[in-house]
Amino acid sequence: MSTAVLRGYPRSLSCNASTVVIRLMTAADGPALSAFVQTLSSRDLLFVRRDITHPKVIMAWLQALEQGNVTSLVAYDGDELVGCTAIVSDTLSWSRHVGEMRVLVAPAWRGCGLGRALIQECFALGLERGLEKLTVQMTVDQQAAITVFEELGFRAEAVLHKHVKDHEGNAYDLALLSHDVAEVQALMETLGVPEALDSEG
Ligand SMILES: CC(C)(COP(=O)(O)OP(=O)(O)OC[C@H]1O[C@@H](n2cnc3c(N)ncnc32)[C@H](O)[C@@H]1OP(=O)(O)O)[C@@H](O)C(=O)NCCC(=O)NCCS
Repeated sequence: MSTAVLRGYPRSLSCNASTVVIRLMTAADGPALSAFVQTLSSRDLLFVRRDITHPKVIMAWLQALEQGNVTSLVAYDGDELVGCTAIVSDTLSWSRHVGEMRVLVAPAWRGCGLGRALIQECFALGLERGLEKLTVQMTVDQQAAITVFEELGFRAEAVLHKHVKDHEGNAYDLALLSHDVAEVQALMETLGVPEALDSEG
């Protein structure tokens, strides 16, 4: 699996009458990332395995970037971090061909296309890294996000009942969606799609 990112950044996008800049996250984004997670409700964070409001978890995230187990993007409006993504994989695991995607947008920046753009960029990075299967988890009420992932070819694989609890002790169901990239690519090759696309250039 490749960890080098070839996709070109920064990229920009119009949102909320601003130009939001999307680029790769580095350790220098730590303070802006900590400020960003404080804008999110615990409900928004339930799909992330660890509570990212803890400074130690943020520190581990930034270290994982350097170790190559995580590739993340950040979206900035000026100096304010307004969204981010992560693809998490573990090269030492039996599931080293699988990447878990995570996407978060600040509440004040939702509904203007930033989430869709980040989900698409994160997916493109997963393909570029050569991951064979991509997964994403979210509480079942995140219908907008589920729709965007389904449009990219993700399908529901499981619902984990009462799998996460917020700080108040309320339990929620978690949906697990996945995309078998390798299977889709093999199907496209069987159907001759790559050749059809190549011949247009
Ligand atoms: C999921 C999330 C990233 C979406 O971010 P966003 O910036 O609002 O997304 P977009 O503005 O690109 O909207 C995506 C689509 O959902 C639709 N949508 C947005 N809010 C919606 C809502 N409340 N109800 C129904 N549809 C909605 C939009 O119309 C858009 O569809 P379109 O492009 O066809 O118009 C954001 O809500 C979030 O951070 N949620 C908490 C974390 C989470 O659950 N992440 C997903 C798991 S990784």
